[in-house]
Amino acid sequence: SEAPADGVWRYSAALPFEEGVSLPEGGTPLHEVPRLEDDIGVARLRVKHEGMNPTGSFKDRGMTVGVRVAEEVGVSRLACASTGNTSAALSAYGARAGLETLVLLPAGKVAAGKVAQASLHGARILEVDGNFDRCLDIVQDLADRGEAYLLNSLNPFRLEGQKTIGLEILERFEVDEGTYPDRIVLPVGNAGNTAALYKCFRELVQSGALDEDAVPKLTGVQAEQSAPMVEAIENGWDHVERWDHVETRATAIRIGNPVNAPKALPGIRETGGTAVAVSDEQITAAQRDLAEEGVGVEPASAASIAGLRKLREQGVVDADEQVVCLTTGHLLKDPDAAAEAGSEPEPVPDDTDAVLDRL
Ligand code: F0G
Repeated sequence: SEAPADGVWRYSAALPFEEGVSLPEGGTPLHEVPRLEDDIGVARLRVKHEGMNPTGSFKDRGMTVGVRVAEEVGVSRLACASTGNTSAALSAYGARAGLETLVLLPAGKVAAGKVAQASLHGARILEVDGNFDRCLDIVQDLADRGEAYLLNSLNPFRLEGQKTIGLEILERFEVDEGTYPDRIVLPVGNAGNTAALYKCFRELVQSGALDEDAVPKLTGVQAEQSAPMVEAIENGWDHVERWDHVETRATAIRIGNPVNAPKALPGIRETGGTAVAVSDEQITAAQRDLAEEGVGVEPASAASIAGLRKLREQGVVDADEQVVCLTTGHLLKDPDAAAEAGSEPEPVPDDTDAVLDRL
């Protein structure tokens, strides 16, 4: 008999299949970050590092299910629009399944590591002269015309896989701490993860496995110049206005039209959470803070820590809270951003005394 599955497929009871197109994915670490916990001032802080997935982001959890569905349906071309990570994941899982893969990227706005992944895994890469939201408009058109199978987070099977982030957090936290976290803080772009976590919690409550009161507060973080969800909450929760001009160093969440908002906004509201916007400077500082704890993340991921710090300073988050921050992508995804945030290499002559002189 086969060994029990690890990671995402350990939770096959919550998924539409017994197994998927797997590399395998999930089973990511829940790091302690004691100095940051102390510095931000919460009772407990853990970092769920989704950068430790096979292609370096949480997207793998969705693709293992989504590409399996594509196989089942018998499509001939997979496609996505992407700020980078979705394209990297789809390219790898599409390659694994032996399917043709098309990715549309906003020209000049995707981090180097992500383009390199899509390129080596053999995707057809089209660089669109427009932002991510326009790329997604076009991919939706292609899907509507029957030219491609869409694997953005509008695809509900992707979100099924991403539910396992919530399952892993609750299970691990309960084993380690004997309780569930009060709050989960995550970066928000299209709000797919937010929607997936809410679905996860609802299913657990409905099945009787989780008390309604124990559901963590879903707390989203956006970059200041890409923050339509934060704006929608400030304006009364019911309507998200598309932002046509967005900008941020955290290119992964440089998104003005969060397509999963209709599922994610109720999740944030019903769990008693909120959303907050942070500046690029705050994101860079948080990326350094995590790096000092040995945890290497890309800028969008650091937004979760930056957002938690801001909400703690504002008193929205209490000192007695137990919090999990989601870091969604690996440091090596965006080597240029990491090098800019870090220290400069110093040139020295090839001589021991010269090296010692510098120390
Ligand atoms: N963090 C990272 C590193 C991401 O790549 C993304 C989304 C998000 C957060 C936001 O997640 O959309 O579920 O709210 N990246 C997509 C992409 C858009 O194309 O890679 P969300």
